Amino acid sequence: MTDLTRRMIIVGNWKMFTDREDGPVLAAELVHLVDDLGLDIDLVVCPPFTGLHAVSEGLNGSCIALGGQNMHWSTEGAYTGEVSPRMLLTSGCRYVILGHSERRTYFGETNEMVNRKVRSALTAGLTPIMCIGETLAEREAGETEAVVATQVEEGVQGLDADGVEKMVLAYEPIWAIGTGQVATPAQANAVHHHIRHVLTGLFGRDTASILRIQYGGSVKPDNAAALFSESEIDGALVGGASLDASSFIAIARAVLGRS
Ligand code: PGA
Repeated sequence: MTDLTRRMIIVGNWKMFTDREDGPVLAAELVHLVDDLGLDIDLVVCPPFTGLHAVSEGLNGSCIALGGQNMHWSTEGAYTGEVSPRMLLTSGCRYVILGHSERRTYFGETNEMVNRKVRSALTAGLTPIMCIGETLAEREAGETEAVVATQVEEGVQGLDADGVEKMVLAYEPIWAIGTGQVATPAQANAVHHHIRHVLTGLFGRDTASILRIQYGGSVKPDNAAALFSESEIDGALVGGASLDASSFIAIARAVLGRS
C-alpha cells in the first residue's frame, strides 16, 4: 500500500545544459504544460547557476519551484568559483541538490563535505536534496546496503529529527545515471526500504516515515509509473528527460498512476 501522506516530489536536474537562450525557453514550455496538470505534487527544476535568475523570472507565478545543483557551506568568503546558500535563496531557489554522484566522483565531495552542505542549507532555509547511491562494482559485491547506510549516516550527522524531516533524499544508483539502465522498481524500493530502516534506527519511525526518498537514474516517461507505484518511492530526480518539457511533465503525470 502506498503511503499517501508523503507528498511526491519530481525534480529536474538540468546539469551543465541550457544557456541564457534555451533555459528560459524550456522554463516557458514547462509553465505552459503544467498549467492544466492539477497535480498535488512538488515540481522543481535545477538549472545551472547562470540560468537561475532568468528561469526564476520565467517560473514566477507557476507551481514549479527552483533549485540549485550545488553550493558551498559557508555564508560568504574567499572561495573562488563557489556559490553560497544565500546567493541561491536570493536567486529564487527553495531547493538545492547536494552530493550528486557527479560532484562526488569528479569533484571529490566526501560524505563529510556533503554533511556540512546539508546542515548549512537547512540553516539557510533551503531544502537539501541529498544524493546517495552505489557504484556497479559495489552492487555486484553485495555492498549496496552498507554503502548507502554509511552515506546516510554520515550525511545526516549532527541533524535533529526536525532537520531530517525537512530534507529530501535521492537514491541514485550510479550505474543507472545517464546509462538508460534503470533500476527495477523492486530493486529501488528495496534500497529505499533499507534507507528508511537506517533512519528509523537514528531518528525513530515517525521521522523516517516523513522524509521523502526520490529515485534517480534513467527515469523516463515509460518507466516512471512503475517506479511510482512502489510504496517507498516518493518521486524522482530526473536528468536527461528533464531537458525535454513534454518528457518531464509526462513523468510528473505518471504520479497519477499511483494507487
Ligand atoms: P539521468 O540523471 O536521469 O539522466 O539518468 C539522473 C541524475 O543524475 O540525477
